[in-house]
Amino acid sequence: MGSKLRTQLIDLFSKAGDEFISGQKISDALGCSRTAVWKHIEELRNEGYEVEAVRRKGYRLVKKPGKLSESEIRFGLKTELLGRQLYYHDVLPSTQKTAHELANNGAPEGTLVVADKQTAGRGRMSRVWHSQEGNGIWMSLILRPDIPLQQTPQLTLLSAVAVVQAIEEAAGVQADIKWPNDLLIHGKKAVGILTEMQAEEDRVRSIIIGIGINVNQQSADFPQELQQIATSLSQEAGEKIDRAGLIQQILLSFEKRYHDYLKHGFTPIKLLWESYALGIGQELRARTLKGTFYGKSLGIDDEGVLLLETKEGIKKIYSADIEMESF
Ligand code: BTN
Repeated sequence: MGSKLRTQLIDLFSKAGDEFISGQKISDALGCSRTAVWKHIEELRNEGYEVEAVRRKGYRLVKKPGKLSESEIRFGLKTELLGRQLYYHDVLPSTQKTAHELANNGAPEGTLVVADKQTAGRGRMSRVWHSQEGNGIWMSLILRPDIPLQQTPQLTLLSAVAVVQAIEEAAGVQADIKWPNDLLIHGKKAVGILTEMQAEEDRVRSIIIGIGINVNQQSADFPQELQQIATSLSQEAGEKIDRAGLIQQILLSFEKRYHDYLKHGFTPIKLLWESYALGIGQELRARTLKGTFYGKSLGIDDEGVLLLETKEGIKKIYSADIEMESF
């Protein structure tokens, strides 16, 4: 089945909820014969969807497959823009790399790349990002905001806020933000966000937001060196989390925050970010590529940059690893 027809069919089932949809209605909506409808439904069943068929009533979706797939992510997606252009792969070197290539080739705003496994996942500061199959969310989102370059850190912070809110909604777990956008639960890292940019002179061409979430890992699934410092949402929530549902919630919460941002500016995001952030007013150490700085965190400025009160005066921190005394 073409991906457009599949999306239309999944959208129809999604809107119908528990109701049956008649074969005729589906065939009208898809513009194909009743026999073709039956074939498309068979294909969904082969992908692991349970579709009930009742004479004179039609079809009803009973259960979605547990595995992450393109259809799983599309089914029930409520956004207008984000994730509507979707590339799903079982394995990729890095969703970030693929998203950069797509952005270079003109992919529209909102394009999302998702992989079940990454073989060369990358983190901030050129680190490796461990991206095992079957239990995480590894995805990259392309945005094309019309903003000056110096405002891009604001989108890094917006991403962190959107993901915190989605995790609370979908998994019932409250995460904290460690500047700029590590999400910690009980002091252990559950989410990493990598924001990269393609620019032209002083304007942004695209921003690629890479989001890595430990969702259903058990402690033993992490490499030894991460076991004490990493956690997963399911470890914290005490139950398995539906990955596709969480992706949908992130896209929805992201879209809301992004619209607010484009309409009302950074202030509402800044306030939210500060309400979730750890360590404001605390002494911390910022390791940057230009050296290590110690001081009291004064929070973020209107561009989203961290302000550190050091002995030499207030220092603006654009990119760093942060260590706090309380850790
Ligand atoms: C960090 O260092 O904390 C940021 C980690 C970002 C990982 C994500 S997973 C999806 C996307 N693809 C990558 O290769 N990296 C990002």
